[in-house]
Amino acid sequence: MERKQERAGSIDSQPSPCVRRCVDRLSGFARGRRAIMQIQFSFRRSGGTISLLFFALCITFLVPVLARAQPAASPAPAAKSAPSSATHPWADKTLTPDRRAALLIKAMTLDEKIALMHGVTPGGLPRLNDDFIFPTVGYVGYIPANRRLGIPALTLADGRAGVGNGAKDVTLLPSPIAAASSWDVALMNGFGTVLGKEEWDKGTNVTLSPSIDVVRVPEWGRTFESYGEDPYFNGRMAVAEITGIQSQGSIGDANMYLTMNQESSRFSADSVVDERTLEEIYLQPFEAAVTEAHVGTIMCAYVKTNNVYSCENSQILHDFLRKQLHFDGWVMSDWGATHSTVDAAKNGLDQEMPYDIFFGEPLKKAVLAGQVDIATINDHVRNVLLPMFQHGLFDKVQPGKWTSNVRTPAHDAFSRKVAEEGTVLLKNQGDLLPLVPKAAVAVIGAAGTTKPKAEGGGSSDVVAPYVVSPFDGLRKRSAGTVTSADGSDLAAAANAARNAEVAVVFVRTEETEGDDRPDLKLPGNQDALISAVAAANPKTIVVLDTGGPVLMPWIAQVAGVLQAWYSGQEDGNAIAAILYGDVNPSARLPLTFPRTAEAIPTATREQWPGVGGHSTYTEKLNVGYRWYDSTNADPLFPFGFGLSYTTFQVSHLAVSAPTTQAKVTVRLDVTNTGKRAGAEVVEVYVGHPPANGEPPHQLRAFAKVELKPGETKPVTLTLEARSFETFDTNTHKWTLQPGTYQILVGTSSRDLPLTSTVTIAAAK
Ligand code: BGC
Repeated sequence: MERKQERAGSIDSQPSPCVRRCVDRLSGFARGRRAIMQIQFSFRRSGGTISLLFFALCITFLVPVLARAQPAASPAPAAKSAPSSATHPWADKTLTPDRRAALLIKAMTLDEKIALMHGVTPGGLPRLNDDFIFPTVGYVGYIPANRRLGIPALTLADGRAGVGNGAKDVTLLPSPIAAASSWDVALMNGFGTVLGKEEWDKGTNVTLSPSIDVVRVPEWGRTFESYGEDPYFNGRMAVAEITGIQSQGSIGDANMYLTMNQESSRFSADSVVDERTLEEIYLQPFEAAVTEAHVGTIMCAYVKTNNVYSCENSQILHDFLRKQLHFDGWVMSDWGATHSTVDAAKNGLDQEMPYDIFFGEPLKKAVLAGQVDIATINDHVRNVLLPMFQHGLFDKVQPGKWTSNVRTPAHDAFSRKVAEEGTVLLKNQGDLLPLVPKAAVAVIGAAGTTKPKAEGGGSSDVVAPYVVSPFDGLRKRSAGTVTSADGSDLAAAANAARNAEVAVVFVRTEETEGDDRPDLKLPGNQDALISAVAAANPKTIVVLDTGGPVLMPWIAQVAGVLQAWYSGQEDGNAIAAILYGDVNPSARLPLTFPRTAEAIPTATREQWPGVGGHSTYTEKLNVGYRWYDSTNADPLFPFGFGLSYTTFQVSHLAVSAPTTQAKVTVRLDVTNTGKRAGAEVVEVYVGHPPANGEPPHQLRAFAKVELKPGETKPVTLTLEARSFETFDTNTHKWTLQPGTYQILVGTSSRDLPLTSTVTIAAAK
């Protein structure tokens, strides 16, 4: 952290060691990582003046409070019985949501309106230095029901890989990046459905998921929470997951909007980005979430975009969201990301979370003083009410409560399936994998034995009901001897490897919200561990339990590499199924793995973590693989790459002429040329004419195809008009440019054997 602060120019205040010690003490009461974030947040807002006094307060005051914060203190969810439409005309289900919202707004007092525009903290936790401490157990955001008007309470909970905020009896799914690595939108839809079901059954009616930001910086501490580095890909995954979440009753939340691409100095960092890059890269997933998945809420981010905080940024809230995308839901602030009353209210923030510092009394005063007009307040309130009506929150009774047990055997099985479908086979020299069941295996490394790494940290933290360690998973599956070494002693680890036929080394990174990784190296002695094990036994397989890419200085020494991400409660069972070939790996990387630290697109300090508080997006459109392609850099493993225990071939590409709407149909055959059933991902990239100034080629369609040995299947994909458009900063519009476009088809951004062209005519 010190190093990162130094590089960041020390923009954020950080807790002093005594405060950190206090936090450590508190963590025993309140799920450590969450509490740490909360205290960091309080500390930051106090302007960094907290010292011994805070520490003393902390010990005497907070410990009992946090210890007291029990689920029972959680608010009661929605009003149980709906009022009649005679007295409450907006209760009439036959009216449109628009009409119902309009009728209700007419009946509301100013206080009632403002009450919908900010959260309150459940249990009435105390203020310290004008800060609320976030609730640590129970809904992390809450707006009480309005009994007079029959408005249900809003109950908000985190959940990127399962219900968060300390909830018990929930399923720990693999991290979203693992699910995304399946390149299977149906699986991602299932992911949203399981998450949405557990949230709804916990009484949550707004699920704070998914995180859909494009991964710009591979060191980003929340890479594991997102889907990857391609805007189109993230859009597809966002639509699939949001549709799943919202199908179960709760309203989804696309976060974090916009340019939330680093944790370093995240409360003040400024993303300096040109308009075209904002539109073509960073806005794209949000556009899909709004226009296709009809997401009900969007969370504005901590960071600034072009020197204006996200939650008071008229360009991104008014111009992009409302005028361009016609978003009709509500924008809530990230927790503590509101910085003003009048600016935020006028520039597009609908709801302050999790409390009322700016949108409580100060907003009322601003309205009474004529600084914010009532029409603006009515717009904000309508934005909140509309999704509530659209999603039926006024019309159904919330079934569950925070203490409900929402786990099911089907959800456990689904968690395992996602882990299996999301594990990417990166190297398999001499077909060492799959393992024969009777092989003697040494399981090495803390991540494989004593400290499995099943999830990332921060607000996505889930209380896992159990985690199967890789050692236990392999022991269950193997018909041979399975030994272990935790990797703390390199000689002992090498010895274990020497005495086995195959060594499987599990390594981990500690990724978390609130911190970027200092670099892409494996922390601690893990590189040395891999080298020591590989020197002792050439049949060494490395399993990466990491949330993002790592450098692999040992790549030539090992026979195999699997990217397992943070794979959830079924960690050990899933990796055993892959290692022994019960499941044929079919995942593909959703982001590039660089060969060296210097090769990454954001290698300069100006880009990340920023200089003088500004992170400058000098790479512009060349995010992720676009950068490697435009600089002719050789990635270690490219975007879209992944191996299988079988082999595939793509052939017979046929590309249609564009329709009048500039849609193009791409047809090809894909064949399983090996001896096992498996699934291939077909990827279609578009190369613009040079005059358009676009990166060399960009993903525009993909499909996952399951094939029996020897089987050939035809695949048909559609390229939408957007595939051929660029954003014109003169007209502020997407424009179709006439010209000849390349269509490149294959199985990674660097393996595109089939090519064709399509000509887009000038508009008449
Ligand atoms: C995180 C959000 C989260 C919120 C509530 C914030 O610190 O950035 O992702 O939803 O806390 O827990």
